[in-house]
Amino acid sequence: MNEKQLVAIHAASHVQSGMLVGLGTGSTANFFIEELARKQREDGLKVTTIASSNISMIKAQSLGLTVIGLQQVSSIDLYVDGADEITPNMALLKGRGYDLVMEKLLAKAAKQFLVVADKSKLVDRIGTNFPIPIEVMPFAWQAAKKSIEALGGVGDLRPNVAKDGLSITSYGSLVLDMRFPAEMNEVTLNQSLNNIPGVVEHGIFSGLAHGILIADQEQVEERWR
Ligand code: A5P
Repeated sequence: MNEKQLVAIHAASHVQSGMLVGLGTGSTANFFIEELARKQREDGLKVTTIASSNISMIKAQSLGLTVIGLQQVSSIDLYVDGADEITPNMALLKGRGYDLVMEKLLAKAAKQFLVVADKSKLVDRIGTNFPIPIEVMPFAWQAAKKSIEALGGVGDLRPNVAKDGLSITSYGSLVLDMRFPAEMNEVTLNQSLNNIPGVVEHGIFSGLAHGILIADQEQVEERWR
């Protein structure tokens, strides 16, 4: 069993029957969806789920989980998702997989947001290993980019996987991948990006995680806010 699978299975032990559970996106979240489906099939666990992406929705439905839409509820019991970077104060960078809009909505709506990751995701500063993904309205990308550059950001539109066009999110937005000076902390950056017209959402998740589960070799360490 690899570390992502180990930590995902551990996270599933926090799920109780009757819960409304948010499903993340990515390889670690996929293991969690598989474990939830197994528990429903073999242990009689009864849950309803909300997916953070079309990919996770299709996976969950194909495994027999009931998936509802966020428009049907205003809060969820537990949201389990991976992250691209995690700082010591539980700030996160998310969105390498494009679906940060739903991910942030689920994180905010969750009574408990649990992040599942291996040790490779631990960093001292948001932006250490990846640029900050910033989802922008297509017609506003140039205006939004100019505002982001005024904050010290450097970067460009994210290309698609084939590198012959641009990445388009599930909601029809473009993504700017931007790097910022090391001295800009994520609290300031979070607030500044929230204030830019044309920005739909961005990948800094500040003050949203309640707990972090970190797999290290064969152990899972739990950290709580
Ligand atoms: C998806 O948009 C991201 O926020 C993911 O949560 C992140 O990329 C983690 O993916 P892995 O679990 O595959 O590392």
